[in-house]
Amino acid sequence: MPGSSQGKALTVCVEDGEARLFMTDVALPPLAAHEVRVRTAAVALNYRDIAMISGKSIDRPGRAYIPFSDACGIVEAVGDGVTRWRPGDRVCSLFFPEWIAGALSPESRRPLGAARDGVGQTMFTAAEQALVAAPSHLSAAEAATLPCAALTAWNAVMHSGAAKPGSVVLVQGTGGVSLFALQFAKMAGAAVLATSSSDAKLQQMRALGADGGINYRDDPQWSAPALSMTDGRGVDLVVEVGGAGTFTESLKAIRLGGAISVVGMLSGAVEPIDVRHIYGRNARIRGVTVGSREMFEAMNRALVQHEIHPVVGRVLPWEEAGAAMEALQRGDVVGKIVLDFGLA
Ligand SMILES: NC(=O)c1ccc[n+]([C@@H]2O[C@H](COP(=O)([O-])OP(=O)(O)OC[C@H]3O[C@@H](n4cnc5c(N)ncnc54)[C@H](OP(=O)(O)O)[C@@H]3O)[C@@H](O)[C@H]2O)c1
Repeated sequence: MPGSSQGKALTVCVEDGEARLFMTDVALPPLAAHEVRVRTAAVALNYRDIAMISGKSIDRPGRAYIPFSDACGIVEAVGDGVTRWRPGDRVCSLFFPEWIAGALSPESRRPLGAARDGVGQTMFTAAEQALVAAPSHLSAAEAATLPCAALTAWNAVMHSGAAKPGSVVLVQGTGGVSLFALQFAKMAGAAVLATSSSDAKLQQMRALGADGGINYRDDPQWSAPALSMTDGRGVDLVVEVGGAGTFTESLKAIRLGGAISVVGMLSGAVEPIDVRHIYGRNARIRGVTVGSREMFEAMNRALVQHEIHPVVGRVLPWEEAGAAMEALQRGDVVGKIVLDFGLA
């Protein structure tokens, strides 16, 4: 049987509310028809990986699990009948392995690294349909950042958000999704306003192309400066990652008929809403959950055409996954945090 061997995996175990991360040996079963074995080169971390461990995520599994959804690797072996890949191909994982195209369905809403094991292992197995080619101009560390944060931003800004030249997009904070949202909005010809708790980070956002910045710690009611920066018109699109404490500000910051792509809940999930802000603004509010393979492939074509490189803030050996998660939690790194699995 092709591709049968031994690997090592990171494993998360939650007991009495305490999460432990440790390394285990895993036996890799023989490949079934249409399965592909991938040797992991790099894995990128997301806020979700911390949220799950701390119990803030609805996806938290009630058993030990292999974490992480975002990998780039090299095809090691293919099962019978595989036509999409050959050994040696460089591929990225799909956050929702069954979401190929169209709308998300209950059947395809089964993400990696939660209810099913993720890619935090030296080799992972995927259905041949559940992989995309890694863009050739990207390093493995860069390509590993695409499956969740980049695709979510692509969906929020381009697919659902429809940013275009002349529009103004507001991105909240300087996390992984927001950095990609900035890059895609600039690619589309839009102007970008960024918020952050840190003036130094706002400088970094300006260096990456942001046209204006607002410190949300100094100015919790940041919709007022957002309105004045757009001559009172308001922004066309907000990529909402804050949730509680930011959603009402987003409603006040959009133009009449403007849109909010609702992505996250960094500061909490529940906030009382005055519905007058919604109808008064003619707001278009759309929830976003990552994206399909079709969107991923469209995003990759844009990344290649525009030679966009993800912002990678720190790369650590995969054995230091615990330290990497602590760094993500501290939030002092601008750019994605990536685990290196030691493949050239
Ligand atoms: N719906 C989906 O499919 C999907 C996909 C990916 C992520 N998400 C969600 O989206 C959110 C962002 O994820 P991520 O991976 O980009 O997180 P991340 O990289 O950990 O982002 C952390 C940054 O968010 C900023 N932040 C925190 N609270 C904020 C607030 N109240 N207002 C504005 N910015 C704030 C901070 O920026 P500063 O340090 O600059 O202040 C912080 O550094 C999370 O809630 C995550 O669960 C959802």
